[in-house]
Amino acid sequence: MGAGAAGPAGSAVSSGDPAAAAEPEERELEAALRPKNLDDFVGQERVRKQLALVLAASKIRGRSADHVLMSGPPGLGKTTLAMIIAAEMNAPLRISSGPAIQHAGDLAAILSSLSEGEVLFLDEIHRMSRPAEEMLYMAMEDFRVDIIVGKGAGATAIPLELPPFTLVGATTRAGLLPGPLRDRFGFTGHLEFYSVAELELVLRRSAGMLDLKLTSAGFAEIAGRSRGTPRIANRLLRRVRDWALVHGIETIDARTASAALDMYEVDARGLDRLDRSVLEALVSKFNGGPVGLSTLAIAVGEEPETVETVAEPFLLREGLLGRTPRGRIAMPAAWEHLGLKMPGNAVAAAMLPFDEDVVDDV
Ligand SMILES: Nc1ncnc2c1ncn2[C@@H]1O[C@H](COP(=O)(O)OP(=O)(O)OP(=O)(O)O)[C@@H](O)[C@H]1O
Ligand SMILES: [Mg+2]
Repeated sequence: MGAGAAGPAGSAVSSGDPAAAAEPEERELEAALRPKNLDDFVGQERVRKQLALVLAASKIRGRSADHVLMSGPPGLGKTTLAMIIAAEMNAPLRISSGPAIQHAGDLAAILSSLSEGEVLFLDEIHRMSRPAEEMLYMAMEDFRVDIIVGKGAGATAIPLELPPFTLVGATTRAGLLPGPLRDRFGFTGHLEFYSVAELELVLRRSAGMLDLKLTSAGFAEIAGRSRGTPRIANRLLRRVRDWALVHGIETIDARTASAALDMYEVDARGLDRLDRSVLEALVSKFNGGPVGLSTLAIAVGEEPETVETVAEPFLLREGLLGRTPRGRIAMPAAWEHLGLKMPGNAVAAAMLPFDEDVVDDV
């Protein structure tokens, strides 16, 4: 299968998912639970259908598939889909990431060693360096790169033909991709948060693979606390499994699941420690906001990017947090969720019209 053929080619290539769970055992388990083909991939109906069409057409044409961009919050299946694309195309897969490609030469080394039809997965593609990005434009469009030899006035560009390949880019921040790069992808799949019903299916599949017994209500309880995210669902399932094991429980029902998850500080709405500390900071330190992203990030002791890509999308979707031109605000539901009464002046701030596209950084 394609995914297994990922091979190292220099330091810019990694064999795993950098954003995956930190512990090696967790990472291994996560890899084991990854669906291997489109049929096993739960949910994301639209993206799955569109992708199936792109792949089927390229098979009929006998060509490598068009370049594909996957965008969406962490843990929704971007890396999984990249691996599925390679597997479905019966093509080898090469994995690297934007941060690993700091020089155009890093990218040239990868591109020049690709074989025909190979799938090149570039994770966090928005974090690639500018010169590498420009090299990628030409490679994507004309399957050609110019290798610069020498320096200064004596430098010459040696053109190098590349075999046709499929680039699969993944990003949690599609807005940060320069237009010319975005335009060179033949297909962009926007991954959405999963419904509770879809997460139940993800959990059923994982439980089967891990040989765990759960009641329907047990699955529902975990799914409801998984923030619309399969990676979180699988992680919570493993924590509930640990809890059940230690307490000698064979069949996991809703009560077991909820007792275990309460212990891990995942609340009934699925908010974890980071989500809650963002809301608590907003409410208690800034009277509900508005407050700029960087200030908010400092208040919770996190990087702005972590707050923006990990906590915010879910809080926005749940109507707990709002983005205004003047910064982030706690929505009425946030006060309610924290068991607090919203003061009148915070109500006024929350009621101002706000624009989701504004990326403030005051
Ligand atoms: N549609 C799905 N069906 C079943 N399992 C899924 C699905 N999507 C994701 N998963 C599971 O969730 C885990 C995380 O998915 P994946 O690594 O593809 O996310 P990602 O979008 O690449 O995240 P990141 O932005 O952090 O890199 C996988 O190990 C896989 O087991
Ligand atoms: Mg990934």
